[in-house]
Amino acid sequence: MKRNEQLIFDRTAASAFGAGQEANSCAQPVLSRSSPSLSGEVNLPGDKSVSHRALIFGALAVGETRIEGLLEGDDVLATARALAAYGVEVVRDGPGDWRVWGTGIGGFEEPSSELDLGNAGTAVRLLMGVATHYEFTSFFTGDGSLRSRPMSRVAEPLIEMGARIIARSGRRLPLALTGNMELLPITYTMPVASAQVKSAILLAGLAVSGNTAVVEQLPSRDHSERLLRHFGADISTVDDVSGARTITLTGQPELVGRELSVPADISSAAFPLAAALIVPGSQVLLRNVGINPLRTGILDCVRDMGGDITLLRTRDVSGEPVADIAVTASPLQGIDVPVTRVPRMIDEYPILAILAACADGQSRLRGLDELRHKESDRFAAIHGGLAAAGVAVSVEGDDILIDGKGAPPSGGAKIESCLDHRIAMAFLVLGLACPDGMAVDDASPIATSFPDFVDLMTGLGARIENG
Ligand code: S3P
Repeated sequence: MKRNEQLIFDRTAASAFGAGQEANSCAQPVLSRSSPSLSGEVNLPGDKSVSHRALIFGALAVGETRIEGLLEGDDVLATARALAAYGVEVVRDGPGDWRVWGTGIGGFEEPSSELDLGNAGTAVRLLMGVATHYEFTSFFTGDGSLRSRPMSRVAEPLIEMGARIIARSGRRLPLALTGNMELLPITYTMPVASAQVKSAILLAGLAVSGNTAVVEQLPSRDHSERLLRHFGADISTVDDVSGARTITLTGQPELVGRELSVPADISSAAFPLAAALIVPGSQVLLRNVGINPLRTGILDCVRDMGGDITLLRTRDVSGEPVADIAVTASPLQGIDVPVTRVPRMIDEYPILAILAACADGQSRLRGLDELRHKESDRFAAIHGGLAAAGVAVSVEGDDILIDGKGAPPSGGAKIESCLDHRIAMAFLVLGLACPDGMAVDDASPIATSFPDFVDLMTGLGARIENG
């Protein structure tokens, strides 16, 4: 352990790590240019979903949890700060190596001020689930993007279980949640596929006497289920013939601190992967990437488009499947993406749209209403950004249609990232293949999920620079 790298998050330090950054307080304009072939092998940042959960479940377990490969992006640091504000000891031993001393379920203390989760939707929704365990009130807020996102979808089941919630109009943040020591067991049928909402309900269910069940019409990412099992919870999953899934958690388990290793985030890997596909002559190896089948819709799409990707050294790490991914630049065909694939690649539509823009023929990305509720309105951002880059793009209801010409568009446009890391990265990747490059007005949101994005991409040979 390198002692000088150790940061101890405690209640007094909880506000000392840059919480509450505001829109464009220090915008970073960045541009990308037509690049020579990309090559190299890269380690990518840890999975954001797994990182949030590792910290939170570690805090709810009894004893020490050791985590390696934790994503140290702004979103996950916001979760660490919030846990510290609840009185949990969270320690950084070195890059990606963290320890949490869990308090057990019911062991949190009342925070002395509001919890500012910055840009992190997963953090606020999962922590709302945990906050229902307590009779004290937790106050949640975030940046301009998070304050504009709907919280009804998570508030409704938590209220049914016994929480009281007061929020700004449209149930948006800032929001105050008062929990209940006698939460009710519920069976909740999800109106929209959402792993965040499912996880919030399961987290609340940890304190319930009895079973909590969640029914999903289409399964969403199951990191919570896998990790809860890893920490010792009794949780079962039953799929019916229609494809619906019921997850049942037995309440009041004794969770025990564990060791775990976080795989690289496929949602981050998707950016260098796409860049290697569209920059001619590229060959890149992405190491240690999580390939949970409920996250790999993007790999299915790339294969359907004719992209040359190979999974190597497939293995299991802390209950999650992992592989290295070899990518070779390839001519791509347009694709019709079924709506059933949405939950398995919900975060990958911005970068899939970039691939479609460089492919030959029409692509139809179906059923994208959920994209309107992400870090920005991604539906509008994809449509507007592609049109500005010279792509023939149109909208029919909740579908986006992209007419690829078998070569990248001219580019030459500046895109507003709207506090959205994935919009910024997607359009910077597009610029690597466009004759006139691309620019984004503010690349600072990239730090929420992929702090080393520019260095990693330039290390592969990409031309990305401050603009
Ligand atoms: C996440 C679930 C998804 C995803 C988000 C991370 C999670 O959100 O878009 O980036 O970690 O549970 P929804 O639950 O809103 O679909």
